[in-house]
Amino acid sequence: MVATPGVSGARVLDVGCGAKRDPRAQEGLDQFPSKDVTILHDATQIPWPIADATYDMVVSHQFLEHIPQRSDNGVNLIFRIFDEFWRVLKPGGTLQFDTPHADGWDANNDMTHQRLFTPWSFKDLWDMSKNPLYPRKRWDFVALRVDRGYVIDPWMRAHLPRVDRAFARLHVGRPRYIYLTLRKPLA
Ligand SMILES: C[S@@+](CC[C@H](N)C(=O)[O-])C[C@H]1O[C@@H](n2cnc3c(N)ncnc32)[C@H](O)[C@@H]1O
Repeated sequence: MVATPGVSGARVLDVGCGAKRDPRAQEGLDQFPSKDVTILHDATQIPWPIADATYDMVVSHQFLEHIPQRSDNGVNLIFRIFDEFWRVLKPGGTLQFDTPHADGWDANNDMTHQRLFTPWSFKDLWDMSKNPLYPRKRWDFVALRVDRGYVIDPWMRAHLPRVDRAFARLHVGRPRYIYLTLRKPLA
């Protein structure tokens, strides 16, 4: 039985939480220690130290773009990470993540980003016909949103140097972040 996130009893994990764990999550996994990290672990080391079917919801904000496409021995790490999201979720559980859109300003200006995505990059997670060679779990698609808002907001005006604001202005109206919600099927 899956509990509703935010309602008492629902167990929520934030993967790649850093020092900013999602307020809905009781637990946070990250490779570096911080007050918000309860599971200190490198997510590329699989399996994660978490039992199967533990969580009602997994959230992950601005984490996936830090994962290399492949491990040193050629394993497709992105699919393995999604398989771990799947394993630690209860059947019927929800995965909610966001990542920079490949065409956005934030995507390419960060040297810690390992690979970038468009919304269409994720189609293989719910449509097995597109890339039949890779074994993986099939997710149910729930929702997709792309945020197009490069705006020079008051925070940017106050904090970003003039040159950064000039770059940001070039991207006004372009896609910024991808927000995707998937569900692990009940059976
Ligand atoms: C851009 S920060 C996002 C932090 C937080 N989720 C947020 O939205 O502010 C990316 C986080 O992913 C974590 N991370 C990157 N690669 C990781 C890995 N292999 N295993 C665990 N955590 C990782 C980093 O340590 C960092 O805290």
